[in-house]
Amino acid sequence: VQLIKDTDGRVTSIVMRKPFDMHHHVRDGEMLKVIAPMLARRFAGGIIMPNTSPPIVTAKQVGDYRKRLLDETGEDFTPLMTMYLTDTLDCDEVMEASKLHDMFGVKYYPRGLTTNSDSGVADPASLWTPGTRPYEVLQTLSRIRRTLLLHAADGFDRTGKELNPYEQEPHFIRETLPRIKDAHPHLKISVEHLSTIEGADYMQSNGDAFLGCSLTSQHLLLDTRDLHRGGFNAHRSWFPIIQGEEHKERLLALAKKGLPFVWLGTDSAPHPVSDKEAACCKGGVMMVHAGIELYAEAFDKAGALANLEDFASKNGPNFYGVQQSNDTITLRRQSWTVLENFSLPVADGADPRSGVVRPFRLGEQVEWQLAA
Ligand code: NCD
Ligand code: ZN
Repeated sequence: VQLIKDTDGRVTSIVMRKPFDMHHHVRDGEMLKVIAPMLARRFAGGIIMPNTSPPIVTAKQVGDYRKRLLDETGEDFTPLMTMYLTDTLDCDEVMEASKLHDMFGVKYYPRGLTTNSDSGVADPASLWTPGTRPYEVLQTLSRIRRTLLLHAADGFDRTGKELNPYEQEPHFIRETLPRIKDAHPHLKISVEHLSTIEGADYMQSNGDAFLGCSLTSQHLLLDTRDLHRGGFNAHRSWFPIIQGEEHKERLLALAKKGLPFVWLGTDSAPHPVSDKEAACCKGGVMMVHAGIELYAEAFDKAGALANLEDFASKNGPNFYGVQQSNDTITLRRQSWTVLENFSLPVADGADPRSGVVRPFRLGEQVEWQLAA
C-alpha cells in the first residue's frame, strides 16, 4: 500500500491492491446487469450470495449464475460462488459445485430473519445435530475445506421465546456459534456482517485460520441515531439491524487493528424502491456504487488508512485460499455527491417504483473517490 500525504501529513490518496468484496448480492436479470460493472470496477473478485429467487441449491444453478455474472463483469473478475443452506440441500450437489464451478461456501440463513430467507434452516439445532441434512452438509464442507458463511442471528431463545431484534446476533454468538464449532472442529467459518460488541469481542478472542468475519461499511459508519433521526429511514434499513453507537465504535476498533481474520464484505443488497418504501420495508441497501470508497471514509475516521489494504485486499482472499489481485486501485480524498437513482425496465402496468433502485447516500456526499 502507498499512502500519499500533503505537507500537513494528511493522506490525500491511497494506492492499493484491488480489493475483494467478501459479501455481495448481485441479484439476477436486469438488476445484475446494472450492478456487475460497478462491482468489477472496484473489486477484483468476491463472494456472490445465493439468496436469489429461487435460491442457488444445485451445481448447475451455480455454474449458470456464475456465467451470467461473468458475461457482465468480464473474465478479470473472480466470482467466489456460494450455495444456500436449506433443510434439504444435497451434499453431492455441494461437492460437484465446488469441483466444477468455483463454489467456495454455503450460506446459512435462519428462516424468516432476513430477505429471501423463507428457504432457510428452520431449526438452528440442526447445525450441530447428527442425522439432519444441514449437519451432513457441514460435515461435507469440513471435508472439502469450503466455508460455512453465517447470517449470525437467532430468532428465539432456548425456551422458545422470540428475541428482541437487537439481541439476535449476541444470542447467536453466545449460544449457537460455539455449538457449531464444537460439532465441526475442522470447519472453516465466516461470520457475516458482524454488528455487535458481543460479536466483535468473540471474534477478537477466537478468530484464527478457521474462523473469521466480514464487516460492512454501514455498520462502521452508522448507528441507531442515523436510522431514527426525524423518523425511521427505510433507506438505511439492513439485516442485521444497525445498533447503538457503542457497537459501531467497537466494530471500528476491531476493523482498524488489521487482524488477518477480519475482512471487507459490503453486503450491498439492492432492492427496488417499491420494496423499500413499503408497509414492511425490506432489509438491504445498494452500496456497490461506493463499495470501497465508504470503507476509506471509515478507516480514515479511525486513523487507520494504513490497514485498509490488508482488510480489503488480502485477508479475505487469504482466508478463502484465492490469489490476491495484482492490479491496483487509487482512492483520492475528494468528496462527491451521489446524484442519481439507478433504473430498471418496468413491466407493463407495474408500480413505476419497481424500476428504481436508490443507492446509499443519495443526495449526500462521499468523502473518497475512486480514480478512473
Ligand atoms: C440481504 C438481501 O437483501 O438479500 N439484506 C440485508 O439487509 N443484508 C440479505 C442478507 O444479507 O441478510
Ligand atoms: Zn447479505
